[in-house]
Amino acid sequence: MAQVVVVIGAGSIGQAIARRVSAGKHVLLADLHQANAEAAAKVLSDAGFETSTTSVDISSRASLETLVKTATALGEVTGVIHAAGVSPSQAPPEAVLAVDLHGTAMILELFGEVIARGGSCVVISSQSGHRLGALTAAEDDALATTPADDLLSLPMLRPENIKDSLHAYQLAKRGNVLRVKAEAVRWGQRGARVNAISPGIVITPLARDELTGPRGEGYRRMIELSPVGRAATPDEVGHVGALLMGPDGAFITGSDILMDGGVTAAYFYGALKPA
Ligand SMILES: NC(=O)c1ccc[n+]([C@@H]2O[C@H](COP(=O)([O-])OP(=O)(O)OC[C@H]3O[C@@H](n4cnc5c(N)ncnc54)[C@H](O)[C@@H]3O)[C@@H](O)[C@H]2O)c1
Repeated sequence: MAQVVVVIGAGSIGQAIARRVSAGKHVLLADLHQANAEAAAKVLSDAGFETSTTSVDISSRASLETLVKTATALGEVTGVIHAAGVSPSQAPPEAVLAVDLHGTAMILELFGEVIARGGSCVVISSQSGHRLGALTAAEDDALATTPADDLLSLPMLRPENIKDSLHAYQLAKRGNVLRVKAEAVRWGQRGARVNAISPGIVITPLARDELTGPRGEGYRRMIELSPVGRAATPDEVGHVGALLMGPDGAFITGSDILMDGGVTAAYFYGALKPA
């Protein structure tokens, strides 16, 4: 039976991780835009990977259920790379929460029902979730454990409590990390692992939209004043994905790796500290 790695969000980060963990496996590339999935499949198949493509909208349960069926029909799902999402400059707050928060929760729930023994998942969260101030313990618990389809009804996520798209994105990404932590328990019962990566600015089409969008100046400042002093490449996220999903990461689950060139460190203790 084929081993299947499902890449949800066939963008730059999803592809970079897939290249590191999918040799000898079937790579199912799923994206909102079929053209993105096909472009990724062309690059990967030219590099020796066996691929297929499908479209999915991660904010729709029905669409995700179809994806799970497509994936399990191809073989046993041993890897899930969730790298689909919208950034604050790409969507209004409701859409950010529907895709980045509710979508991620549904992916963890549905793939947590079919993941193979020994399988693993990485969820791409963001450094943005680390800059959000502390939530209460009750809010943390609510984001971690509220049934996926009830998440968007939480009082803390009502429109009047969300300042803007960036605030929605920060809450969604904080929520992703908490969700991964809680889901690691259930995934562990199947002998599988799940972790998050919180990248800083990684040069991809999504990051270019941020760098040229209304928050562009702030983003450029973040890069200049960070300890590492540059943005990341998708391949650097690929290395961390490979560690988390592969045998060297076998003791790591329910975890989140912040890899942001030190932006968060500078935000709390350095030149990026808010006045
Ligand atoms: N690039 C960065 O600087 C950066 C930093 C931190 C976190 N991230 C996160 O990384 C993830 C991947 O982004 P990327 O930078 O590789 O961008 P990208 O634009 O290369 O890829 C994102 C992909 O997600 C797809 N997508 C968007 N909405 C979708 C939906 N509803 N259903 C299915 N697919 C959908 C897009 O079509 C696109 O192909 C996102 O969650 C993003 O928030 C990116």
